[in-house]
Amino acid sequence: MKNVISSADLSRKEIEGIFASADKFKKGTAKTSLKGKIVALAFFEPSTRTYNSFDAAAKKLGAEVIGFKSDIDTSITKGESFADTIRIISSYADCVVIRHKFDGAARFATQVTQKPVINAGDGKHEHPTQSLIDLYTVKTVFGRVDGLVYGIVGDLKYGRAAHSLIYTLTKFKPKRVHMVAPKHLRVEKEALSSIGYEYDEVDDIMDVANDVDVLYVTRIQKERFADELEYEKLKGSYKVDNGVVNALKSNAIIMHPLPRVNEIDREVDKSSKARYFEQAANGVPVRMALLDSILGGKNE
Ligand code: CP
Repeated sequence: MKNVISSADLSRKEIEGIFASADKFKKGTAKTSLKGKIVALAFFEPSTRTYNSFDAAAKKLGAEVIGFKSDIDTSITKGESFADTIRIISSYADCVVIRHKFDGAARFATQVTQKPVINAGDGKHEHPTQSLIDLYTVKTVFGRVDGLVYGIVGDLKYGRAAHSLIYTLTKFKPKRVHMVAPKHLRVEKEALSSIGYEYDEVDDIMDVANDVDVLYVTRIQKERFADELEYEKLKGSYKVDNGVVNALKSNAIIMHPLPRVNEIDREVDKSSKARYFEQAANGVPVRMALLDSILGGKNE
């Protein structure tokens, strides 16, 4: 594994290897170290979880971290190009983790550096390390990813975390997947053409609530809308509240890549079904496993 730009870059075997390694990092039984390595974090778009969990993961492995949380702190503000910025920062590091508002930015970066590139979210395209965290969380709860019913809810048009989850699930054998979205926020038709599992598209969470094992909720991606009025029309078009929680099966779980805005009521946090904070915390061991795999950690 060199670059992780899209969910297509990881085989099921590689994903399962990352999950096994993440388990060891979580339990503290892994002996591997990235001492002497440098991880560059090049974030051109805001982040709380992805930036900080990569930062923590690299440091826990003994690596040094360089980079920036916003291009405001870089020579982009003086007119330097994205390509030159990546050429330079990757020349100081052993791998580069990139977040950008444009689809394809991480793929483009692989053309200007020989160092491994990890896509930390590019526009509305993909967020492949998020789907590793998501399915790792599912595995920690159910002991498996296969054979479960998934409901993926929200902005399936612009949501990169949802896209990567939908694609990564094609490597597994979900029982079925309900894609729950307002008509204007459904998955693009061409993205559905390569899906090898049973799925349907529905408008209302309540239509699938008693069927799902995993209810994966996403926010409407306000920043991707060209027309703010269109966002205003759609915001608030779905919400997970205690009514939804009570309609779920007793052992079902609620996940969300976060940040949430108002699509999950705060009262839901008290439910044992709410797993989104645990999911976010899993970002550290999963990203430790990924960095270790890409950078070839050495046993201490
Ligand atoms: N889930 C996620 O990508 O969150 P951040 O935008 O805070 O990194």
